[in-house]
Amino acid sequence: MMNRMSKPLGRSLALCAVLAMPLLLTGCEIGGKDATQWGPRGAAMEGVVNPRLMSAPGVPPESAYPLESRDGPRARDTYQNLQVLGDISADEFNLLMLNITAWVAPPEQGCNYCHNPENMASDEIYQKVVARKMLQMTRTINTQWEGHVKATGVTCYTCHRGKGIPAYYWTNAPARPNGILGNNMGQNMPSPTVAYASLPHAPFETLLVGNNPIRVGSKGIHPTPANTTSIQATEATYGLMMHMSSSLGVNCTFCHNTQNFGKWSREQRVGAWYGIRMVRQINDGYITPLKGVFPAHRLGPTGDPFKVNCQTCHQGVNKPLGGVPMLADSPSLRDPNVAVAGAGTSVLAAAVSTPGAVRAVAVAMPTETADRIADAAGAAADQARESVAATR
Ligand code: HEC
Ligand code: HEC
Ligand code: HEC
Ligand code: HEC
Repeated sequence: MMNRMSKPLGRSLALCAVLAMPLLLTGCEIGGKDATQWGPRGAAMEGVVNPRLMSAPGVPPESAYPLESRDGPRARDTYQNLQVLGDISADEFNLLMLNITAWVAPPEQGCNYCHNPENMASDEIYQKVVARKMLQMTRTINTQWEGHVKATGVTCYTCHRGKGIPAYYWTNAPARPNGILGNNMGQNMPSPTVAYASLPHAPFETLLVGNNPIRVGSKGIHPTPANTTSIQATEATYGLMMHMSSSLGVNCTFCHNTQNFGKWSREQRVGAWYGIRMVRQINDGYITPLKGVFPAHRLGPTGDPFKVNCQTCHQGVNKPLGGVPMLADSPSLRDPNVAVAGAGTSVLAAAVSTPGAVRAVAVAMPTETADRIADAAGAAADQARESVAATR
């Protein structure tokens, strides 16, 4: 009575189960993978990607209207409380306000996410104070870290993607008490930060702030007094490497000659080196100092603000948003004073820099959503284009 199954049936079921095991263990991802040969031929240094698991690069929203010129009265002559953007033209300032609203603010809040509509100059809403620091941070990224972000550049959208809080960030993990279970040093806790490897789950706390070295390779085959790197530091380094690989959607060979991890033969590794320094400056120079500005419920479990790692911008793609140039209509996020290429004298430029009209709309209706204002601006630009076409 205990075993009703016929023996052959039981055996084939068991066989099926055994055969199915590898499928389960590989997450059932059958089907072809794409491989690119990166190293010298025959060295098996390949980049392997699963096209079905690749992240879509995403598409940044279009600028509310094109920026035609950077001439005209300066923003500081029009507005009262500008600490960062005073130097740019009032028109460019207005366009930037429209665009940052689309990049960062929830649509139902629009300008009011950062502003008290009764008094646009007031700093009473903490988001405005944060945004000011973010403006400085974004300019620093685009000017001082061109070695990393190249001509592509970043805007608020690169991290925010239309949301007030970026989807990917990290905070310090609360220390685990040294109880009867012992301190596992963050080991064996499956975490997406290190691509679910059994590596310390919080490598960022030591490696994406401050300036600890990330060099753990031994220079010789024997232990020497020069080899002082601890196993913990080595594990944290590998944890970070797993994070960097999964954030960019690549494997180790994208940056390394895997026959010698210490070599600098691939330019991607150099770019990544700058990336690590850039992220440290973002965190230490801009985000951590905002600690006192955020309300308590917006801080991590140990009271630190949400910080940036590679995933914050890259989101699974080797060039964020597929490498679309981000700064075409927001040159002031790189250099406050460089003229827009090709702009200046055209009738079109003159027509569009009437968005004194746009400014009037924006200031007279601060409670309107960005969309309404953007529509007005877009219509003004369209009209200008039509009138230019008519005169040619
Ligand atoms: C993500 C936050 C944010 C959003 C959303 C935002 N602003 Fe601003 N706004 C700022 C910051 C920051 C400043 C101050 C910049 C500086 O100090 O240089 C500012 C300043 C201003 C000023 C100047 C006020 C003065 O007299 O000093 C105006 C006008 C303004 N914004 C209009 C708008 C309009 C209109 C919208 C919606 C289309 C908008 N802003 C959306 C952050 C924001
Ligand atoms: C490198 C990535 C990055 C870029 C670029 C960036 N931000 Fe942020 N921003 C963050 C992170 C991370 C936080 C979350 C900080 C926290 O919550 O402690 C944040 C928070 C904010 C907040 C606070 C949101 C809230 O409701 O608490 C505002 C407002 C903001 N950013 C505006 C901007 C603006 C405007 C720009 C462009 C000028 C910008 N950010 C560019 C990463 C970025
Ligand atoms: C996006 C580029 C990139 C990827 C992908 C990457 N690394 Fe690295 N790796 C670096 C950089 C840059 C450094 C040096 C960091 C520094 O010095 O600040 C480094 C350092 C190392 C070191 C220390 C080398 C030394 O000189 O001591 C090891 C080991 C290492 N990586 C292993 C890996 C492994 C294993 C993988 C795949 C899981 C990987 N890396 C993926 C860029 C990368
Ligand atoms: C502030 C946003 C931002 C952050 C944070 C960031 N990157 Fe980047 N990264 C970019 C941009 C933009 C590019 C595209 C540059 C270009 O067009 O070549 C890029 C390109 C790269 C490339 C070259 C890719 C290629 O196909 O040649 C590597 C490698 C890279 N990043 C590694 C990293 C690593 C590792 C980190 C984390 C330590 C990181 N990045 C963090 C914005 C960022």
